[in-house]
Amino acid sequence: DLTGPQILRMVSHAHSLKQVSLPWLAPQSRNQKNTRLRMPSQSLFNKSITLIFSKRSTRTRVSAETATVLLGGRALFLGHDDIQLGVNESPRDTARVLGGMCQGIFARVGDHAEIEELAKYSPVPVLNALSSLWHPTQILADVLTLHEHAHLFEPTQIPSPGPNKSLPSLRPLTVAYVGDSANVLHDMLVTYPRLGHKLRVASPPQPAYQCPKAVWDRVTELGCNKDIWWGSDPREAVNGADVVVTDTWISMGQEAEKEQRLKDFAGYQVTEALCREGGANPNWKFLHCLPRKKDEVDDEVFYGPRSLVFPEADNRKWTIMAAFDLLFGKWDLTGEHSAD
Ligand code: CP
Ligand code: NVA
Repeated sequence: DLTGPQILRMVSHAHSLKQVSLPWLAPQSRNQKNTRLRMPSQSLFNKSITLIFSKRSTRTRVSAETATVLLGGRALFLGHDDIQLGVNESPRDTARVLGGMCQGIFARVGDHAEIEELAKYSPVPVLNALSSLWHPTQILADVLTLHEHAHLFEPTQIPSPGPNKSLPSLRPLTVAYVGDSANVLHDMLVTYPRLGHKLRVASPPQPAYQCPKAVWDRVTELGCNKDIWWGSDPREAVNGADVVVTDTWISMGQEAEKEQRLKDFAGYQVTEALCREGGANPNWKFLHCLPRKKDEVDDEVFYGPRSLVFPEADNRKWTIMAAFDLLFGKWDLTGEHSAD
């Protein structure tokens, strides 16, 4: 739902919050012994945030809990066996009740319609922590990671002034995605083109692995489709790619389809050979939201020097912290924001 400038503002804010919380990372602090300790914004002081998780999570959950602590608030983790939602109570009633007691709702749901209903009836902001169709906070972390590693994509750096001068600017990139048309890809489709990057996608040709209509409608509504190439040949997709991305072939809830999916995705594993044969930029880098299985990417790439997957995982925390600070703490996405 954010505009392109709002996405960059959120990512810049995450970068500032990270530097305030980990001051030894800031370039100006590296050589100073007595780094002044600063506190990040305490916008959640005396506030409670509910984390509704009807599916498993490591990164998103821990990011949300630890980020809330840094912002001075309290997070309540509500797993699928903890509350009445889904068994005795509707999303509508749950949203109204939780919104009467807490200042924000971060929800990981099954069907995307569930979070739409929570958002419709909640008196406080609702953020998507992953649904069947979208995973917006993942893409905020991916964008921050690419900006932080902008120096790896030189020499054709074209500076573009950002809202926060400390966030390194990024030249227009070609990002390739090889794999399933799932939630992580869907947020890439509506994000990268609006930030000036091109996207190339390869998914198996069967209808089950094509973009859902609701997602493609949003992609075209935002005008992102003109910067997206989509085919079924993974080699063609990685042609000219600066960044190669994949996700699991078996998303949460699709376990029963495992055997069929492993057959249908044969040949889509991200490897050095695939990217060499496809003509990726020889300096290509690799992203994956995690959790990872060996089916979709081999160890050589995943643990190799091209891989940015662990900085990307770390950045889940700072980007979720920025979203909580601006949307749950300050209720404000406009103007400049101080990290403290
Ligand atoms: N990337 C991601 O959302 O990881 P978790 O499922 O562990 O939260
Ligand atoms: N597509 C994956 C993403 C996990 C973070 C899933 O939905 O399981």
